[in-house]
Amino acid sequence: MSTATPLSPQATYPDTLHLLPQTNQLRALHTLIRDRTASREDFVFYSGRIIRMLIEAGLDLLPFERHDVQTPVGRTYPGLRFASEICGVSIARAGESMEAALRAVCTSIRIGKILIQRDKVTKLPHLYYSALPPDIAKRHVLLLDPMLATGGTALAAIQVLLDKGVAEENIIFITLITVPHGIAAVTQRYPRVKLVTSSIEERLNEHAYMMPGIGDFGDRYFGTDR
Ligand code: URA
Repeated sequence: MSTATPLSPQATYPDTLHLLPQTNQLRALHTLIRDRTASREDFVFYSGRIIRMLIEAGLDLLPFERHDVQTPVGRTYPGLRFASEICGVSIARAGESMEAALRAVCTSIRIGKILIQRDKVTKLPHLYYSALPPDIAKRHVLLLDPMLATGGTALAAIQVLLDKGVAEENIIFITLITVPHGIAAVTQRYPRVKLVTSSIEERLNEHAYMMPGIGDFGDRYFGTDR
């Protein structure tokens, strides 16, 4: 577990935290994936819909620059375009579930991968594998992991990006659900990293699962649950 001071559910969150508007549609989608009897097909499909919303919200946080165009009827449209290069980085295994939604909205986007697991002896997160675009330092990075629970893996993954020269403020961490503990872990250590999520759960249980939560995301998504 990280040593961050947990934020209470009533806490005021930093403005680097972006919670999707809690609409009825979003709540209905959450209802479908949280249901323990949901089929894997439904879990994959409806979590994919929420992830798509999260990716769109993450793209909104990128810098834009003025880009005017001429319309077919001879007027100037005072437009905008993305002002930076981006890439995705998924944290294996669960983060891989978010790659399709990113590809669907950003064709030919580069997507790196990081595998971090807790060392059985030291209990500390250990980096087993990373494959990242060589020019990642000049990019904005959408870091993908659907579960931000204790924050241990997220902190280690962010550090990998910083070690590669990515600016802290250029990292957008996109996660399906989180808890005050995970938010505190990330925002206290890396206050310029932006966080995008669709739900803040009540708390972690003694097994570090989020409550009410959705259970083990990777197992349910990839069909490795019993
Ligand atoms: N990882 C999961 O898959 N679920 C949780 O609740 C916490 C971590």
